[in-house]
Amino acid sequence: MKILVINGPNLNFLGIREKGIYGEKSYEDLLSMIRKKGEDMGAEVICFQSNHEGAIIDRLQEAYFEKVDGIVINPGAYTHYSYAIHDALKALSMTKVEVHISDVDAREAFRHVSVTLPACDHQIKGHGLSGYLEAMDYIAAKNQG
Ligand code: DQA
Repeated sequence: MKILVINGPNLNFLGIREKGIYGEKSYEDLLSMIRKKGEDMGAEVICFQSNHEGAIIDRLQEAYFEKVDGIVINPGAYTHYSYAIHDALKALSMTKVEVHISDVDAREAFRHVSVTLPACDHQIKGHGLSGYLEAMDYIAAKNQG
């Protein structure tokens, strides 16, 4: 099984930005957790982060040709307004899980809307960094069943 994990803008600043909301752990810490989980599951994991909308779309399109089995995506603030990322996700038929570290529904009103979620199969929010690992389990379960 091959899983692609995409992180959008400012997620490379984990451990630096708004620690009260996103925690003390760094992006490198997150990558270590994801890679360990991949090993435990026997899955190949590819991690990608970009602060640029077009780069995220290019990476999603590549996933089509790579025959990825599932995508975990935290589109960051693009979640709330990127119809271009919505469309790129919509074009892909593998299992797609949207993850948010924070509970977006308990924050500012603009975070309550996700334009990317309708193009995904599932959403995990407010579970901290563990949400990424839960998303990987969700993809594994979907690929088994
Ligand atoms: C986020 C929530 C978004 O509203 C925010 O813009 C982010 C991170 C989260 O993981 O909680 O950058 O996606």
